[in-house]
Amino acid sequence: AASLDVDISGVAVGQIITVKWRGKPVFISHRTPPEIEAAQNVSLKELPDPASDESRVQKPEWLVVIGICTHLGCVPIGNEGPYHGFFCPCHGSVYDTSGRIRQGPAPYNLAVPPYRFASDTKISIG
Ligand code: FES
Repeated sequence: AASLDVDISGVAVGQIITVKWRGKPVFISHRTPPEIEAAQNVSLKELPDPASDESRVQKPEWLVVIGICTHLGCVPIGNEGPYHGFFCPCHGSVYDTSGRIRQGPAPYNLAVPPYRFASDTKISIG
């Protein structure tokens, strides 16, 4: 299947955009330095679904995740919640700035889709 090319040159630091890929929302977050630091400085023991931030991103500045809550499939809201990552309004799941589940009923982290950087300003999803 064709991949989806997304121009990220206009995404400001701190901004999250949503694109549609195979009918699913995908969040592309241009993380701030504090958001990157928060994502990296976590003991994996604290995490319900342990994964390092490094294993979830290709470049620290950019988080790319599927925007579907792993509880029952609602679309979380970006830059919200106690970890300033994502917050799912349906039943209160809280994700951090790496899209990892931190609180609430969702069992897993937000999934990372297959993607690559086609250039510094273009992400190719799929
Ligand atoms: Fe997100 Fe239930 S669907 S918390």
